[in-house]
Amino acid sequence: MGTGRARLAASILDADQANLGYAVRRAQKNGADRIHLDVMDGHFVPNLTFGPRTIKAIRRVTRLPLDAHLMIANPGRSIERYLDAGCDSVTVHVEVDEPIAPTLQAIRAAGRAAGLAVKPATPLSALEPYRELLDIVMVMTVEPGMGGQSFMRDAAGKLPGARELLSHRPVGGEVHVDGGINRETAEFAGGLGVDVLVVGSALWVKGHDMGREIRLIKALADEGFQYQLNDGVPPIPRDNWVTFTSLPLAIGRRFAEQIEAGGIPVLVLRADGQINPDGVRDYDLLVPATVEVLTIERHSAERDDRLEEAEAWRTDLRASLPSAPERGTR
Ligand code: DX5
Ligand code: ZN
Repeated sequence: MGTGRARLAASILDADQANLGYAVRRAQKNGADRIHLDVMDGHFVPNLTFGPRTIKAIRRVTRLPLDAHLMIANPGRSIERYLDAGCDSVTVHVEVDEPIAPTLQAIRAAGRAAGLAVKPATPLSALEPYRELLDIVMVMTVEPGMGGQSFMRDAAGKLPGARELLSHRPVGGEVHVDGGINRETAEFAGGLGVDVLVVGSALWVKGHDMGREIRLIKALADEGFQYQLNDGVPPIPRDNWVTFTSLPLAIGRRFAEQIEAGGIPVLVLRADGQINPDGVRDYDLLVPATVEVLTIERHSAERDDRLEEAEAWRTDLRASLPSAPERGTR
């Protein structure tokens, strides 16, 4: 298992807050695909959790993508700090009382995925104006604010609409469901076409085998998808993307556009690649495994050129920084 369609984001909200590093490593070891970080400010929701400094510290203990879920009243003010902390995606609430587009644009400009979350009572129509700026739609199936609440089926009814909202994107858009996901509810959510299941309290039950819980939840979601949406046909695994090359973001983006112009979809994702003189890691360019050979045939000469271009760029940059200690972990 773990090769199916659904991905699982482990929320550490209900983990032992005195041992977050351990919790994140444990979730990674047990098959979580990402870490979901619930930031609460005591205003947008009554509770208070952690902020960018904690996320920056978590960044150092895992290679898993970090999804920040900002339940804060003024995300615009602090967005740069969350990006700087190393979040791979940042999702803010559409119900906040401030301009949202600039925040989504800032997230995108940093090469991260931008998301909007809707509370159970908020209709999807609230997201319409931001459609073009969205990589993630997060449907809340509990009132935001705490873990361990029960799943609201009515709110989950928005999941197919959320997928529809992202339908203009051929690849890369994701629907997340957050709240009350466990083995009782995963099949239902999977049947509504969700891509990422956020799971909190169900993972941290004392005495439970976390790995088994994760395998069951993902498998149940895939079964739900197969029997509700896919006429009994097993879902196409989403994990079979292979790395074609790793490049600094700007060069990688240009190369990706060129490859995509020939009809091959490319995902540009932050990777474990080398850290550049500007402190930012190289990004991976991923292509579906089924077209890997074609991509190599068409683009390997160009790839060599781009890698050379990247090396020249690094050399120039190093020369332009008077003393260039490798800073940051991004
Ligand atoms: C709730 C948070 C959730 C929470 C989910 O406000 O956004 O991410 O951790 O916890 P469970 O899975 O227990 O509902
Ligand atoms: Zn959350």
